[in-house]
Amino acid sequence: MKYHTIDELLSNNQSWVAEKLALDANYFNKLADGQKPPFLYIGCSDSRLPLTNFTRTEPGELFVHRNIANQVSLTDMNFLAVLDYAVSHLQIQHIIVCGHYDCGGIKTALEGRSTGLIDNWVNPIRELYLQKQQEIDALPTREARLNRLAEINVLAQVKNLYQTPIIRKALHEQNAPNIHGWVLDIKTGLIKDLNISTVQWQILSSPLFTNSSILNNMSEIHPTEGVAGCCCEQASKSKLTTAEN
Ligand code: CO
Repeated sequence: MKYHTIDELLSNNQSWVAEKLALDANYFNKLADGQKPPFLYIGCSDSRLPLTNFTRTEPGELFVHRNIANQVSLTDMNFLAVLDYAVSHLQIQHIIVCGHYDCGGIKTALEGRSTGLIDNWVNPIRELYLQKQQEIDALPTREARLNRLAEINVLAQVKNLYQTPIIRKALHEQNAPNIHGWVLDIKTGLIKDLNISTVQWQILSSPLFTNSSILNNMSEIHPTEGVAGCCCEQASKSKLTTAEN
């Protein structure tokens, strides 16, 4: 791969601005008016996947939070501030958790390779792997095992979003964004929608339903098949037990 020099970044910027202005003399005036992005993108820090390129989106369309292996960490103040601002102030309509195949964070979690602090960061993914070890180890190739864990990771992060007070509040106020789980395949450039059903987490997360009759039927509602069973699942179950009692 040919990399640009640092000087080229600045000269590219100037030519890009000139191109934009040639197409629309007010392009940057409009950008400067403020932002009202419809999407919050939660992705991996990996340099190969700026979602704007892969989705042909423009500046102003995606509000972004990226970290290693696209984690929705319930103790990460940086992430929670982004989520709160996106949901409460920008009122984004969709949240996209986008993982990817060939993810270094997933490799570290699955194979336990020590890379320093990243070990600590990806430990929740390691836990997901250990919970699904039988299923994942049974897959025929290393690539298939890594891909499956990448998908399970996205599923778990979508589920985690429903454990945040921000999404719970939005559900309560009936203006929660739609949450989507995607995986980007680096080898093809194509995005795969995991079509994650979030209904059961919406119900469990919403105070509206805490004492409603719907809880009587909760035993019939099962987590989406393939849910990695993150720690939050236990929390939901114990909460349900409490509600039933
Ligand atoms: Co990655």
